[in-house]
Amino acid sequence: MRIEIPRETERLGAVLIHSTQKVFELDSGLSHDQDSQETESVIQRIPYDALYEIEKQMAIVVPMRNERLKLVEGVLCGIPHQCLTIIVSNSPREPVDRFAIEQEAFENFSRFIQKDVLVLHQKDPVLAEACREAGYDHILDAETGLIKSGKAEGMILGTLLARISGRKYVGFIDADNYFPGAVQEYIREYAAGFLMSKSPYTMVRIAWHSKPKIVRDSLFFAKWGRTSRRTNEFLNRLIAEYTGFETEIIKTGNAGEHALTMELAMLMDYSSGYSIEPYHYINLFEKFGGLPGSALAQEMARQHVEIFQIESRNPHMHDVKGNEHIDEMTYSAMQVIYQSAICPDGLKQLLGREIEQLKQRNQEQVWPEISIYPALADVNLDRFRQVVEVHPFAQALAGV
Ligand code: GDD
Ligand code: MG
Repeated sequence: MRIEIPRETERLGAVLIHSTQKVFELDSGLSHDQDSQETESVIQRIPYDALYEIEKQMAIVVPMRNERLKLVEGVLCGIPHQCLTIIVSNSPREPVDRFAIEQEAFENFSRFIQKDVLVLHQKDPVLAEACREAGYDHILDAETGLIKSGKAEGMILGTLLARISGRKYVGFIDADNYFPGAVQEYIREYAAGFLMSKSPYTMVRIAWHSKPKIVRDSLFFAKWGRTSRRTNEFLNRLIAEYTGFETEIIKTGNAGEHALTMELAMLMDYSSGYSIEPYHYINLFEKFGGLPGSALAQEMARQHVEIFQIESRNPHMHDVKGNEHIDEMTYSAMQVIYQSAICPDGLKQLLGREIEQLKQRNQEQVWPEISIYPALADVNLDRFRQVVEVHPFAQALAGV
């Protein structure tokens, strides 16, 4: 891959946010192809073999609920063979057991590609028991005792499984992506970000180059989604309130496609449902931003957290899920910023008004409360592993 070096970096305490980086070549050859004359001041060349070595240590978690199998199969096809694939499904099991259908399809797929793919259901009682036994009952539903519904809850579970598999990196890919080539590109970009980072605490977020839509019978390549535009605006405003300088550095407030080093994944708190991605920024600022009221750990002040935002080349095309869904996502993003103790007064008032308007517009909708889940650092991983080991899918985990 040939990729631009970040042109600027915004800093809040120990959190470094790099500006978006353009990709110039998706594949720039192998390391031994390197021309020794090549200089690297603006653009960095990352050989394919270096990306491959990172991908070998990466688990890719695919959260899904009720997606069309053809779409998900395309996504699986885009995941490089060397990555561990973990599918966390929350599809209904009644009246038709959709999960059983998915499981069969993915198990066949896994035979064709000669690779074990982990397929599990979010509501599997064994997984809930593993969380409980390991001291992490925060994502459990008090009434059913099972893991709560929600994209974030599925991702947290996937992260724990990736951790016990021993992989060093965990990346997330939505299951409703129409382009397998885009999936492959995102994962290469995750690897490129990790290679460029100087810190063990790194997050890579994908900024889509474009999102194609049909407008008046022709294709229009939109740059921003409706939710992302607002979330970025609020997060940038939050930074500006602390630094005193207006900024547009954040372009990935809602990046569903993102990856983390395992060290960082274990250190962060998470939030529920669709608010998880904007909350990444908020929580990093809360914990490592050095803002009033937050104690900055010595280790972190030395190491820094690095956030890379890489602009992908493939258009991003996924399933369209309607206006209420967009409003719910916008609401979740605004809510996690609004709720945070670091949200400055002016921004809080603005968000309060916006949230009220959204609620007015969606009076019939019942949106789930936003919960904050503590970091996974204290989870008893040995106990978690012992409980899940009885499960048939654990075979795939043992094989890695
Ligand atoms: N395991 C699990 N459990 N997966 C879920 C659940 C759940 O309860 N709910 C949704 N998913 C899966 C979907 O099947 C899909 O693969 C992925 O999570 C994203 O959900 P979508 O419903 O497709 O969300 P979106 O496309 O509108 O939004 C995505 O992009 C945003 C950025 O624009 C999400 O990734 C957002 O989180 C992201 O902010
Ligand atoms: Mg989607």
